[in-house]
Amino acid sequence: MSVIDRIKAKARNNIKTIVLPEGDEPRTVQAAAKIREDGLARPVLLGNFTKIKETALNTSTDIEGIEMIDPVESPKAQIYAKALYELRKAKGLTEDEAAKLVADPMYYAVMMVRFGDADGLVSGAVHTTGDMLRPALQIIKTKPGMKVVSSSFLMDFPNKNIGYEGLLVYSDCVVVPCPTAEELACIAVSAAETAKNLCGIEEPKVALLSFSTKGSAKHELVSKVQEATALAHELAPDLCLDGEMQFDAALIPEIGASKAKGSPVAGHANVLIFPDLQAGNIGYKITQRLGGAEAIAVLQGLAKPCNDLSRGCSVDDIVTTVALTAVQAQSV
Ligand code: ACO
Repeated sequence: MSVIDRIKAKARNNIKTIVLPEGDEPRTVQAAAKIREDGLARPVLLGNFTKIKETALNTSTDIEGIEMIDPVESPKAQIYAKALYELRKAKGLTEDEAAKLVADPMYYAVMMVRFGDADGLVSGAVHTTGDMLRPALQIIKTKPGMKVVSSSFLMDFPNKNIGYEGLLVYSDCVVVPCPTAEELACIAVSAAETAKNLCGIEEPKVALLSFSTKGSAKHELVSKVQEATALAHELAPDLCLDGEMQFDAALIPEIGASKAKGSPVAGHANVLIFPDLQAGNIGYKITQRLGGAEAIAVLQGLAKPCNDLSRGCSVDDIVTTVALTAVQAQSV
């Protein structure tokens, strides 16, 4: 059973409600039907009912029995608008603006999650990452004890000898453009939690990547990764984590043994922490396009799970991301 299949099996064991704000988008409608059919979650489609039904008809999708909510008509809209106003008035949000925002399915979905009317949300087939992240960061916020929201990419390789049964966790490739050493340390700890709790990697081995291995180069960027490694050790003393190291030292046993002698991680890393978003985003796309890995993103550090899709996603990508979100929701 692949890691993704195991996650799906876990989702089926404890069904969660996942809201899909892009409810009239063709891939999303088809995914909702598949999610219901596979018993992965209870999907809720947001949007205008006529448009959702039209999409279902045009894609020959049976959505009978799937819950739909139109944020413009919903009786809950007023309650959400008031709550949103209270939450954001100190930031200058007016009551009128709050009412307009909750009519937007993205904000409505985030409010559903905040209120516990849904356990998680998945969007991004149409919206950009920023469109989804901003309301999630403003309204759901970070979970207790966590300062920064970031992401992990689950890189699933056809070659099952790579990483943990063919899986490597890459972080952060989506959220924090230029992390401080403290933020990088938080990202490393979050990614290890994702590897353990979501992917079932019993012992995450976390490498903080750089263009230097154990002081082979001297530069302020290298010093930042060294500082982040020390801070991450303080945050999670029991975690098997090491840095700074180059990609090959992290992954290839002989190179790890020669460049980072004695490191418990070098040569055997299964969680790779990139020093910034440029490196992380480029790194995951190279791995996906040239390495043939399937890439699935999850956000980590939010108080409740919200996940982003790529705009080029397939119906199956949406189904998988909903299953991951449902499993994250099981441990909230
Ligand atoms: N963790 C926790 N809170 C955060 C974070 C974070 N990483 N980033 C911002 N916030 C909070 C801020 O404190 C602020 O809270 P407040 O309004 O309650 O005070 C709120 O979120 C909004 O912050 P801003 O700084 O105003 O938001 P910004 O406009 O900078 O957007 C965003 C934040 C969207 C995460 C931005 O950093 C961003 O665009 N990141 C890159 C996204 C991207 O394009 N990724 C690459 C493509 S994705 C792909 O390839 C799969």
